[in-house]
Amino acid sequence: MPALLAIDNVTRMFGGVVAARDIAFELQRGEIVSLIGPNGAGKTTLFNIITGFVKPSSGRVHFDGADITNLKPQQVAQRGIVRTFQITNVFSGLTVGENLRAAQYLRLTGPFWRTMLGLSDARDRQEAADRDAAELLRVVGLEHLRDETARNLAYGQLRLLEIAIGLAASPKILLLDEPAAGLNSEESARLVELLRWLCRERGITLLLVEHDMSVVMSVSDRIVVMNFGQKIAEGVPEVVKQDRRVIEAYLGASLDEDDGAANGMNADA
Ligand SMILES: Nc1ncnc2c1ncn2[C@@H]1O[C@H](COP(=O)(O)OP(=O)(O)OP(=O)(O)O)[C@@H](O)[C@H]1O
Ligand SMILES: [Mg+2]
Repeated sequence: MPALLAIDNVTRMFGGVVAARDIAFELQRGEIVSLIGPNGAGKTTLFNIITGFVKPSSGRVHFDGADITNLKPQQVAQRGIVRTFQITNVFSGLTVGENLRAAQYLRLTGPFWRTMLGLSDARDRQEAADRDAAELLRVVGLEHLRDETARNLAYGQLRLLEIAIGLAASPKILLLDEPAAGLNSEESARLVELLRWLCRERGITLLLVEHDMSVVMSVSDRIVVMNFGQKIAEGVPEVVKQDRRVIEAYLGASLDEDDGAANGMNADA
């Protein structure tokens, strides 16, 4: 079985800066992979390349055997690669439920979905959307906040809403850019449970960029490490956290999840 996602020798220059240099790695179906590295390593750039927001200077991206390098972001999303953003893209003036409705709008109005679902009239579609929205809120644990305005949510709840918005697009791969940023340890632990559940019960493949090493080490099947635009290591958590180049990249900060110094990895936090 070919990889679900293959990054083939991708390079991206921004003026004189090499944001990504000759990066290659794969995602297998059902895996949880973390992309880590110090600030400016090129992680978000790689997310932007995978999701069509930025074109690589060279190299290709393949999804499910097809070359998606030159697709537009909307086309990439329609194929099932969906992302959340490092900076929130929730509409703060809308309620939680309305935010989900906005996320569902595109996929539910297209002729594709009408045919797929065999739904003939608007009311059936509306009911299906309501059921979906309720289920998504239940999955992320925000069902009690459906009618709350997004700007009133606690930060951790906002991050969960972002994940629900991503899920509303029925992703095959969900890319999460720093989902644990700003979460307390209890919220982080719940996030890890949610991500595992999505993978196990929904068959969603996950690629996350994350600075919180306790999250990364506990949730990842594999870790890809970048530094200054280059891939410097790849492997299972136990191996990666012992890797000399990885430890050096983090200025000697311990990568052990039991070690309080782990948070020192996020240099500007
Ligand atoms: N649109 C852009 N224009 C110019 N330079 C950019 C652009 N996007 C990224 N870069 C540069 O590319 C490099 C990689 O940036 P990127 O945002 O991918 O890093 P990152 O690993 O996501 O960092 P962080 O952990 O801080 O989010 C940085 O030097 C950054 O300044
Ligand atoms: Mg980033």
